Amino acid sequence: MATRFSTLGRYPNTRMRRNRREDWSRRLVAETKLSVDDLIWPVFVQEGRNERTPVVSMPGVDRLTVDLFVEAVKEARDLGIPAVAIFPETDPEAKTPDAREAYNPDNLVCRAIRAAKTAVSGIGIVCDVALDPFNSDGHDGIVRDGIILNDESVEALIKQAIVQTEAGADVQAPSDMMDGRIGAIRKALDDKGYQHAQIMSYAAKYASGFYNPFRDAIGSSGALKGDKKTYQMDPANSDEALREVGFDIEEGADMVMVKPGLPYLDIVRRVKDAFGVPTYAYQVSGEYAMLRGACDRGWLDWNKVLLETLGSFKRAGCDGILTYGAVDAARLLKAK
Ligand code: PBG
Repeated sequence: MATRFSTLGRYPNTRMRRNRREDWSRRLVAETKLSVDDLIWPVFVQEGRNERTPVVSMPGVDRLTVDLFVEAVKEARDLGIPAVAIFPETDPEAKTPDAREAYNPDNLVCRAIRAAKTAVSGIGIVCDVALDPFNSDGHDGIVRDGIILNDESVEALIKQAIVQTEAGADVQAPSDMMDGRIGAIRKALDDKGYQHAQIMSYAAKYASGFYNPFRDAIGSSGALKGDKKTYQMDPANSDEALREVGFDIEEGADMVMVKPGLPYLDIVRRVKDAFGVPTYAYQVSGEYAMLRGACDRGWLDWNKVLLETLGSFKRAGCDGILTYGAVDAARLLKAK
């Protein structure tokens, strides 16, 4: 790269500002382009009817009852957003140490998926596979004597992926970071005849400080004992992310994800360059809160920073972005 650029001409023959002078010219030389087709909208659901509950640490984001979730999915479809991702706030009474509510075919998530799939077509539904919304410990896996068990957790995740697929979810998105779960889920889905069911792996997911508002939204913050460092990745690591992604591709992941987003764009670029598979990033709750918090105080302009940050994911190599700003972004892109 360095040599290529150094032989390319010099000021005053070369003036970089020439191409930037007019809008048409800036459009012509643009290297990447954000489109509505790049967006996945994460939505929180709760029990009840015709109710929405604001998530305090995520201004502008509400948890929705199933009927309003169906309306939201319609709205997303009408805006051209390709997919929504669904996350449940489970009744604390239903949370147990074995997280069995995760594979109850009539749990909130499955009811919401069925309702949306019955009422709305032309949009994909992505569904998390992880035990934290259902686990009285708040962990993504089953905990015994303070240890997050791997293989026992994978057994529960398999059952969860099956009920969610049977409810109509198009994409299973394991976010738990247990070892070997992609291969195990792929095999279980295939054995059941669900060869078409897609898997988007949260392949390189870091033990991040940016998830707190999400944990408020699904009501797992109070429950969580300790941290997730024995299964989520150390933010210091980058080569390790490539191993994680490589394993998940070998095990059958159709799409891979890096999470969080903005602080990990270097990982996105490495993953895309190394594997060239459909690559996604999650602009997580804390990133959303950070931007919205500043915008609500008048320190930043939401429309600008939303599109700029989403554009940076494209530049880093993402094929798509999970963002709580998906609806706002879709409207802005439409108005352009
Ligand atoms: C849980 C899960 C988390 C997120 C998505 N799935 C939180 C966590 O790992 O603690 C985070 C999303 C966000 O912060 O927006 N398996």
